[in-house]
Amino acid sequence: MTRKTRRALKVLVWGICLSPLGMLVYQFWTDDLGANPISYVTNVLGDTTLRVLLASLAMTPLRLMLGISWQMSFRRLLGLFAFFYAVLHFTVWIAVDHFFAWPALLADIRKRPYITVGFTALVLLMPLAATSTTRMVKRLGGRNWQRLHRLVYVIGILAILHFLWLAKKGRQEPFYYAVRKRRAAAERARPGRTVATAAAPVASCPES
Ligand code: HEM
Repeated sequence: MTRKTRRALKVLVWGICLSPLGMLVYQFWTDDLGANPISYVTNVLGDTTLRVLLASLAMTPLRLMLGISWQMSFRRLLGLFAFFYAVLHFTVWIAVDHFFAWPALLADIRKRPYITVGFTALVLLMPLAATSTTRMVKRLGGRNWQRLHRLVYVIGILAILHFLWLAKKGRQEPFYYAVRKRRAAAERARPGRTVATAAAPVASCPES
């Protein structure tokens, strides 16, 4: 592959990786982040972290299956972008979602398994990001560096677990909606109810 093609590919990878952030900034600017902007932004950043992380993990299987190796030079860039988005995802959760309420944050990390798993993945990503430079590869020695960077597979599994746990949590929501709907129907059927209660939307506060 020529230097020019490699450079064009690098620009493309940068563009693809930065586009979700650009899109969020644009949506923020045009006031188009939806009804629950914090959740929306957290989810977009979480999705992007997972996608970029999985893309970085796909480089080696691609080499083994297709016998091509040009994509290997993008592994580090993709890994760093995954770390970048994970930090943004975490920052939104700390700063915007919880407003730096440290005791509540720590309790969440301890008690909610999907948060524990996500947090562990982020902590494990830190030494990988810190040792991603060529200087650090030399300092640690190739073998040690490789051994440390195998952690990325553990991180991949934790990231998928974090997502699946959330999906499971999500799938229970229709159940809560159904319970609330039945309660509201019972409420409406009660004699002496006001017109306002009878007309109130059933699922107007899904977070409660
Ligand atoms: C490598 C690290 C991480 C990855 C790959 C990741 C990925 C994801 C993904 C894919 C989602 C779901 C997006 C959707 O449903 O569309 C998500 C949601 C979420 N993540 Fe993470 N995450 C990571 C780390 C963390 C950390 C460190 C925290 C906080 C300590 C966290 C907190 C959350 C929360 C609270 C949500 C749900 C947001 C909502 O529905 O309102 N994640 N994450």
